[in-house]
Amino acid sequence: FLGGMAGAGIAAVAAAGGAFSLLNDAAKNKASAADATLTIPDLLEGTTSSGVTTFTLEAKTGTHEVISGVTSSTMGYNQDFLGPTMKWTNGNEVLLNITNDIGEDTTVHFHGAHVPAKMDGGPQVAFADGETWSPTFTVKDPATTLWYHPHALGTTAKQAVHGLAGMIIVEDSSDASAALPSDYGVDDIPLIFQSLAVDTAGDIKYDAAGYRLSTTTFPLLVNGTNVDSTTLGFTATKTRTRFRALNASPSDIITIQRSDGGTLTQITTDQGYLAEAAEVTTIRLVAGARAEFTMDLTADATLQAVITTGWIRGGSGTYDFLAITASGSDTPADLPSTLNTIDRYDTSDFTARTITLSQSGATMLINGSAGTSMAAMAMISTTVGAKEIWTIQNATQLEHSFHLHDVPYQLISINGEDPTGVQLGWYDTYEVVGGGSIKIAMEFTDFSDDTYMYMLHCHLLQHEDEGMMASLMVTEA
Ligand code: C2O
Ligand code: CU
Repeated sequence: FLGGMAGAGIAAVAAAGGAFSLLNDAAKNKASAADATLTIPDLLEGTTSSGVTTFTLEAKTGTHEVISGVTSSTMGYNQDFLGPTMKWTNGNEVLLNITNDIGEDTTVHFHGAHVPAKMDGGPQVAFADGETWSPTFTVKDPATTLWYHPHALGTTAKQAVHGLAGMIIVEDSSDASAALPSDYGVDDIPLIFQSLAVDTAGDIKYDAAGYRLSTTTFPLLVNGTNVDSTTLGFTATKTRTRFRALNASPSDIITIQRSDGGTLTQITTDQGYLAEAAEVTTIRLVAGARAEFTMDLTADATLQAVITTGWIRGGSGTYDFLAITASGSDTPADLPSTLNTIDRYDTSDFTARTITLSQSGATMLINGSAGTSMAAMAMISTTVGAKEIWTIQNATQLEHSFHLHDVPYQLISINGEDPTGVQLGWYDTYEVVGGGSIKIAMEFTDFSDDTYMYMLHCHLLQHEDEGMMASLMVTEA
């Protein structure tokens, strides 16, 4: 009943083209004490001088055990696989010196950050092997969890699944931030999920042909460690612990829950604090999405990750990925009753557009164009100050994950229903089910540029590489 056997079963299902899983959830649901410790990604220390904090990153190649006992060729930032966590502070200037040593073009995109288009790391600013790219900007985002990953045309899936991904924590001076745990690795814990595909020789896959090989298995990694048959351990030394969950998978949806059915206190969506903390039993993250939650740990607890609508794996699974030992004896103060003020948009005078997601065979389209080159991609033009409401219409039967660069959006409707609960937060990446639609509203607050563009795309990375990406040009009104 080890991961390898279960994985082979899923591969067989995928190979047969079946959408139904033969995997018995219990096979991966190894409820037991921890047998390895949760790895905490290093915190990358910046150096600050003259008010600018400089971070140094190198995209490089390496090796890593993605499935146990097998060495995979991988990529990482400053390390063999994944990258260190950066902390940015709202209002501060940052400079990143990023060197490409992976042997092919790359970019580094700051997913969810509100930065000038030229600094955003989209396909127009790809830089070659051996070169260094040095974006610099003021951090305008409120406290939240962002991430960084490659975004060159056609190679995003390949580079990201090989390990080029890392977390960004944005801090601010809000009352909520002051009241919440923020001691990185102690009571403020990153959880980076990657549902990957790798063959038994260790070769990491990133396209349909690779997913369907009979030798391909589908490991789930948390902070780089395979949790197929391993429960990671974490000792909470404080009663209240904050977790920052990032779904860095190329496509699968990951739902986080407690094994005992209890609640998690969700405090953020992609783009910052909720108006008030929400007690939830599940947190569903599409590819690219993030959410933070806290737990008041007065007893040991186990966290589970559930993979559903597994686009690459043709199956689902439940993983007991984290056994938390509660050892804190402090009594945390109540959370603030208000975490954030979120003024809901009145969209009556917003400009409307429709963004259609469609496909033609294996080619993925936005508004009828396949964004496989800058010239071919559909372009949305808007102006600084514009307020817009977009209908994201999914004309395919596939699930998509709609990501917009530059500015956060509010959900106005989801398949015709009004948003409720955590759906009232700020997002940059949201699920659009097959045949469904969402309406989102946003305001283009600043950063005009008539040369460099932002992107909007499906965050299922293979769909993005296959063309489900359009550009967004924001110019002066
Ligand atoms: Cu996380 Cu345009 O990407
Ligand atoms: Cu998609």
